[in-house]
Amino acid sequence: FSSSQSGKDEYVEYLFRVHTEYRNCLRKNSEVVQYFFDRGFNDREIEEYEFGYCPGGSKIAYEVASKLSLKFSKAIRYGLMRKVESGYVDTFENRIIIPIKDDFGRIVAFGGRTVSNREPKYLNSPETPYFSKRSVLFMFDKAKKAIKGVDFVVVTEGYFDAIAFHRIGVTNAVATLGTSLSEIHLMKLKPLTKNIILCFDSDDAGKRATMSTLKIFLENDFDVAIAQFKEKDPDEVLRKSGADMLKDTLKKALPFEEYIVEFYSKQFELSTTSGTERFLMQLRPWTRLMLSLKKIERYENLLRIISSKTRLSTAQLSEYFKSKAI
Ligand code: CTP
Ligand code: MN
Ligand code: MN
Ligand code: MN
Ligand code: MN
Repeated sequence: FSSSQSGKDEYVEYLFRVHTEYRNCLRKNSEVVQYFFDRGFNDREIEEYEFGYCPGGSKIAYEVASKLSLKFSKAIRYGLMRKVESGYVDTFENRIIIPIKDDFGRIVAFGGRTVSNREPKYLNSPETPYFSKRSVLFMFDKAKKAIKGVDFVVVTEGYFDAIAFHRIGVTNAVATLGTSLSEIHLMKLKPLTKNIILCFDSDDAGKRATMSTLKIFLENDFDVAIAQFKEKDPDEVLRKSGADMLKDTLKKALPFEEYIVEFYSKQFELSTTSGTERFLMQLRPWTRLMLSLKKIERYENLLRIISSKTRLSTAQLSEYFKSKAI
């Protein structure tokens, strides 16, 4: 691998050419077009989001490499094709293609989703010097201007969640691609806004990711609210309940203090002393984080909310949270 600019230029050119072919394959395949219709996209949107399709047995990656005189060993390392007995075949065969772009709108990877419920559901380009999940925020190239303009960012888990927001005109949405938030993600957002609306999936994995991501954002001095919805993820909110409901989830997002108190109060029996003790134990790190960041208003707000859930006064709570020993 050459990590030089010319190395990346060659890689980007290759992916762009292959992507152009995959877009043509999608236009020609009415079943796959129907898949997008079923997910609520119209023809214009299929073009706008530059979806593609890699047919079964496709050798497009090989053919494009030949045309560009790209070494096949390189094309394999770029992750678009693999060697089989009869020659080469595309890695992404039988998958719809979602282009993943860098901050400047250049395609640096593909997300490939199965259309037949084959595992894994998603296959992504391999990590190379030109692409890693931790270095890319999906849709950031399109979102960055809007994020600065409206002074907040909607952070989702998945490709189709970020796209769902863009479809309804909420163009300040990005996705972390299922991974945890990285230093690089934070560095991209920091100059644009300090206000986050977290919109991760409502399943258990999404809830766990919400808590860990929330912590990272708070430690880095962001203000965070968390969106709530009964469907599995924003893409399903849009499909089942419509655009107004999806916009509403943002308006009704809970400030982090309310969210965590709700979250833990569901896990413990607050009518008992031991339940309350364990409840407070979970909240303790969050209150101490606010204190260490000198976020006194947030800290006090948190105490008020906890107080309303328990029989303890804010003074009693403060004494407990400020004490060194536990
Ligand atoms: N993801 C991935 N590889 C997987 C599963 C997930 O890279 N095997 C990433 C994808 O970016 C995906 C995100 O994590 O969009 C969230 O995963 P998940 O919630 O499982 O997928 P959805 O985006 O909801 O997929 P869909 O709506 O297409 O079913
Ligand atoms: Mn998920
Ligand atoms: Mn899932
Ligand atoms: Mn999801
Ligand atoms: Mn989904």
